[in-house]
Amino acid sequence: MQMTADQLRDNYLKFFESKGHKIISGASLIPENDPTVLFTTAGMHPLVPYLLGEKHPSGTRLTDVQKCVRTGDIDAVGDTCHLTFFEMLGNWSLGDYFKKEAIEWSFEFLTRHLGFAPEQISVTVFQGEDNIPRDDESSAIWRSLGIPDSRIHALPKEDNWWGPAGATGPCGPDTEMFIDNGQPACGAECRPGCRCGKYVEIWNDVFMQYNKTAEGAYEPLKQHNVDTGMGVERTICMLNGYATVYETELFAPLMAKIKELSAARPENPDSAVRAERIIADHMRTSVFILGDPKGGVKPGNVGANYVLRRLIRRSVRYAKMLGIAPGYTRSLAEIVIDNYKHVYPELDRNRQTIIDELTAEEERFEKTLTAGQREFDKVASALTQHGQTVLSGRTAFKLYDTYGFPLDFTRELAEEQGLSVDVNGYDAAFKKHQELSKQGDANFKGGLADNSAVTTRLHTATHLLHKALQIVLGPHALQKGSNITPERLRFDFAHPEKMTTEQISQVEEIVNEQIKRGLPVTVTAMTLEDAKAKGATALFAAKYDEQVKVYAAGDFSMEVCGGPHVENTGELGGFKILKEESSSAGVRRIKAVITNKG
Ligand code: SER
Repeated sequence: MQMTADQLRDNYLKFFESKGHKIISGASLIPENDPTVLFTTAGMHPLVPYLLGEKHPSGTRLTDVQKCVRTGDIDAVGDTCHLTFFEMLGNWSLGDYFKKEAIEWSFEFLTRHLGFAPEQISVTVFQGEDNIPRDDESSAIWRSLGIPDSRIHALPKEDNWWGPAGATGPCGPDTEMFIDNGQPACGAECRPGCRCGKYVEIWNDVFMQYNKTAEGAYEPLKQHNVDTGMGVERTICMLNGYATVYETELFAPLMAKIKELSAARPENPDSAVRAERIIADHMRTSVFILGDPKGGVKPGNVGANYVLRRLIRRSVRYAKMLGIAPGYTRSLAEIVIDNYKHVYPELDRNRQTIIDELTAEEERFEKTLTAGQREFDKVASALTQHGQTVLSGRTAFKLYDTYGFPLDFTRELAEEQGLSVDVNGYDAAFKKHQELSKQGDANFKGGLADNSAVTTRLHTATHLLHKALQIVLGPHALQKGSNITPERLRFDFAHPEKMTTEQISQVEEIVNEQIKRGLPVTVTAMTLEDAKAKGATALFAAKYDEQVKVYAAGDFSMEVCGGPHVENTGELGGFKILKEESSSAGVRRIKAVITNKG
């Protein structure tokens, strides 16, 4: 059935609404108050506390569209369907329905609403492992819907188990749905999960009934949850009979522009196609990261900033390969923004920032790319001449430090020359800085909220600080960004000038006074409108008329927020501002700590 992405999103949400689900807003791409993760990687991510048993203000059946960034598959980008940014349609049962309803609704939506023929659908189920039995129940449900055994494949844990998103948390067996794109099988063994591209995974129903503990045990959860995720790009690709996601309307204008700007063709036509797709994917992801309503991620050397830098720089290198002239990031960004602004108006609002940041990063990299490439070629040819195959960690570090080549970028260049990179040597050369970026990367792959006691306290301290700033500086001093690590809180807020020493001590004093007062921190669910009417600070617009959580610290502060928070401000012990500095034009930044770290 021909369908646009707009129609698909709409149909999906309406379908699940008709099955009793409440439509909620997707979260920001940049998780707030979550030091262990760089980006939102799945629709379930912002819902972790509810999957673990906390009550969601909108009930036990939820559905949404979630922007996701995943860089785990970055090397596969360039094929027909792997992307670093994608939109995930999801429906959740929080201890409500389970396998039967989830699978039956998936099947109903796929066949009746999207018009896939049952013969096009193959599924996989969990084959059992680690004392957790094979998922015969899911197989039986698929069979009852008319999917024959020949298209129900039982696969091991590495294929049919999802989560936890980080080291610990909710997880469980899943059943994945694949559409056969009609191309011939690549061999006798070709089946869902095969890399040849015949079977495209478009939807995953996860039965989250376990909690993985820090010791690696799988404890049954007290509630049985369903977490599903359907990929928008892949689904409309299959619905419209395209061979690749790049032909869908979400990419077509971008691909056309890239072709138009290309002045050279690499000898190998496959490399040209791959380069075009990588540029398109990385630019789209970068635009969404830079345009995120929460803001704050800029190209840089650590964590999320580093991921963004890698994406932009990788795209610049492939643009060079295609003979695309400098300044291209601006024209591609304009296309992405125009293509998506009706769904994500924040991109239009942040158009200037997106373009400025992309252009600046492109220019920064342009300056050193040629020199770095020369350095790389020199070393690579010397190695090859001497029959050596490993590029030293020291060289990789120099390419990073002097020429701004991210490590995986150097690895990719090396691979093209049949060389590998001594990554351990690189790590050693780069230990100090690398400590931070490695943590960032691991965190990115990891993914779960570290709702540890310390970060929870800092989160509450952030609310107190926010309010105190408004008291001392005025109501304009609103949050522009927040980031919490177990060591400190960082808070960006609107204010045109440096704070005076006196203002800083006043803010500190006010916060400490609220801590001493031992205010109870309470949470209430209400509509955003009611929250605003009650005077709660609400930073981010909600798309739908949904329930939000409002956290109040006694009579002092009230903010719309997902939590978590301490129960009493007394738990913070004390509060100290370490630094007040400029963040960007009109935005100041405070770094602060609490003195009870227990
Ligand atoms: N969390 C699961 C996934 O990402 C289902 O959404 O595949």
